[in-house]
Amino acid sequence: MRGRTRSVAVPVLGIIGPGRAGVGLALALAAKGFDVRLHGRSKKPVPKPLALTVGPETEPPAWIAQAGVVILAVRDDAITPLAAILARSGAVRAEQVVLHLSGSQGQEAHAPLVGSRAALGSFHPLQTISEPERAAERLKGAWVAVEGMPRAVQTAEGLAQDLGMRPFRLPANAKAIYHAGAVFASNYFVVVEAVAQRLLRHAGLSDADAWHALRPLVEGTLENLEQQQPIAALTGPVTRGDETTVRRHLDALTADDAMLYRVLGRAALELAQKRGMDAATAARVAAALATDLPPVLRPGVKT
Ligand SMILES: NC(=O)c1ccc[n+]([C@@H]2O[C@H](COP(=O)([O-])OP(=O)(O)OC[C@H]3O[C@@H](n4cnc5c(N)ncnc54)[C@H](OP(=O)(O)O)[C@@H]3O)[C@@H](O)[C@H]2O)c1
Repeated sequence: MRGRTRSVAVPVLGIIGPGRAGVGLALALAAKGFDVRLHGRSKKPVPKPLALTVGPETEPPAWIAQAGVVILAVRDDAITPLAAILARSGAVRAEQVVLHLSGSQGQEAHAPLVGSRAALGSFHPLQTISEPERAAERLKGAWVAVEGMPRAVQTAEGLAQDLGMRPFRLPANAKAIYHAGAVFASNYFVVVEAVAQRLLRHAGLSDADAWHALRPLVEGTLENLEQQQPIAALTGPVTRGDETTVRRHLDALTADDAMLYRVLGRAALELAQKRGMDAATAARVAAALATDLPPVLRPGVKT
């Protein structure tokens, strides 16, 4: 890092798993002056200045003994099998720190490595990395959940500092619920937009027009959310107590979409009540949301 020393001073930092997160993190760390090694199980191009080492997945990378920190950037289900391979090889030593990037798992995913006495932990950037080339700018300012053995947490916090990220600590047993929250904030947000696009298509718009029409609304909503917490930013028929509108929506939807609408509507009603909706209005909206006409009796478009 130009102008100041890094918080994590290791001669080599190794990353196994050249996917979106692995390559993105490798680029961001290389830009901060880390000597990064990246390893995968098959050849593929990686952006400069990275170079990829390749080997069978049953063997650790040749550089592993040199790496002070090893990051397992494989998909969640592959972390423990990879830790078992590393443990069997005897390549991981007590002085090393091994981190994985999973949001839902904690240090227990490294269980096969406990005997190595390396410091084990996790580093979960609360950010989406789809284009590795943009990871450095995306990670800067993002929060990152850190968890694990004390030396692993200390290293993870140092890496966060070096990347301009904001670390926060979580206990291992809180990771699943924390990550479910992240899935709602990012993945299911995208899913809800796809549902909206489909409903506009049923109203007669093309997919492309539906998305163009929805975008300013989505951007306006995000702008509100930039200035306010969700409880204050929520608008719409549930918060207004427009029970007739809610009933009309439910009548127009297919059974599956109505189910989704009801569940999200109940969550919206909870927010409206916290914001001060009176009990009588809340009861009327709750009754409208609970309306359950059999799908065969319902008008509206079927998918
Ligand atoms: N992407 C994100 O936005 C994001 C954000 C935060 C955290 N994370 C976490 O980062 C981790 C990786 O996610 P990702 O999105 O980068 O997944 P990904 O794009 O699917 O990449 C996973 C990579 O791991 C490689 N791999 C799997 N098993 C391996 C093994 N035994 N040895 C070497 N390489 C192996 C895969 O190689 P092949 O190509 O050969 O299959 C692939 O390149 C996950 O734990 C995820 O939860 C991701």
